[in-house]
Amino acid sequence: MVQRIRRALSGAAATLRRDIEVARERDPAARSTVEVLLCYPGLHAIWFHRVAHRLNDAGAHLPARLLSQVARTVTGVEIHPGAEIGPGFFIDHGMGVVIGETTEIGENVTLYQGVTLGGTGKDTGKRHPTIDDGVIIGTGARVLGPVHVGEGAKVGAGSIVIKDVAPNSTVVGNPGRAVVVDGKRVDPERIRHPVPEHTRLPDPVAEALVCLMRRVGHLEREIADLRAGRAPAERDDKDCMPSVQEELAAILGLNGTDGVDPGPAGGAGPR
Ligand SMILES: CC(C)(COP(=O)(O)OP(=O)(O)OC[C@H]1O[C@@H](n2cnc3c(N)ncnc32)[C@H](O)[C@@H]1OP(=O)(O)O)[C@@H](O)C(=O)NCCC(=O)NCCS
Repeated sequence: MVQRIRRALSGAAATLRRDIEVARERDPAARSTVEVLLCYPGLHAIWFHRVAHRLNDAGAHLPARLLSQVARTVTGVEIHPGAEIGPGFFIDHGMGVVIGETTEIGENVTLYQGVTLGGTGKDTGKRHPTIDDGVIIGTGARVLGPVHVGEGAKVGAGSIVIKDVAPNSTVVGNPGRAVVVDGKRVDPERIRHPVPEHTRLPDPVAEALVCLMRRVGHLEREIADLRAGRAPAERDDKDCMPSVQEELAAILGLNGTDGVDPGPAGGAGPR
């Protein structure tokens, strides 16, 4: 019995040490161990969760929920006691984080404030995300439904992710889309932004409208050339229609480009 208590205490002390190390490693503002112990609500929330999770596993569901609500009041972080969270987990700042019941989080995952790992409301059973080792989820991001975020992936601040994220990729925007895949940048010219302003959230619908406006402009110029008896001028930029069709089909949940008319030349359009 004494042996068991001793083992449990030394296990808890090792976990505590790792939590503090992780906070000091990942937050450049952390100056000392005492500061981390006292001033990191994300850390306090994880400690509350570890106790609540054990109570939950032991069948004490109501006490577990009550403890998680106390943690929410004290730290601003709500973690359902059923959530499975691996070692090396760090929540920076904490406030506004919500983690649902069937969430599974691997090792060395980092969340910033305001992240939701939630359900979409339409799934039952496993209805929250699975987050693999080494993932970073930026402030205010929402990852919704039983999606899988692969090892080492990054979810940009403010993104809304409702589909699986490949390992070692970066997803940004609403709906979240990959800008880095397997460590390599996705061609930023794939869909041109209406204005070269990289700080705003990508908006595929606005991009589709801009693409259509550009195409109408080309067609008007071609008609004017034909009416004037001139050969239509060569188009001076790449056609954005195929990628817009792909993007809209993905948003609308269509297979391939079903239901999105590819146009007479399979979407290539007039040159
Ligand atoms: C996504 C993030 C992790 C950067 O990842 P990265 O793999 O280094 O990607 P890059 O910085 O090279 O950006 C790739 C592209 O995504 C864009 N991008 C980056 N973050 C974005 C975001 N949150 N929303 C929309 N677009 C974003 C970049 O402008 C760039 O666009 P471009 O290809 O048109 O130039 C980072 O931008 C981020 O959001 N970190 C979260 C930080 C945070 O929450 N801090 C809180 C501190 S309190």
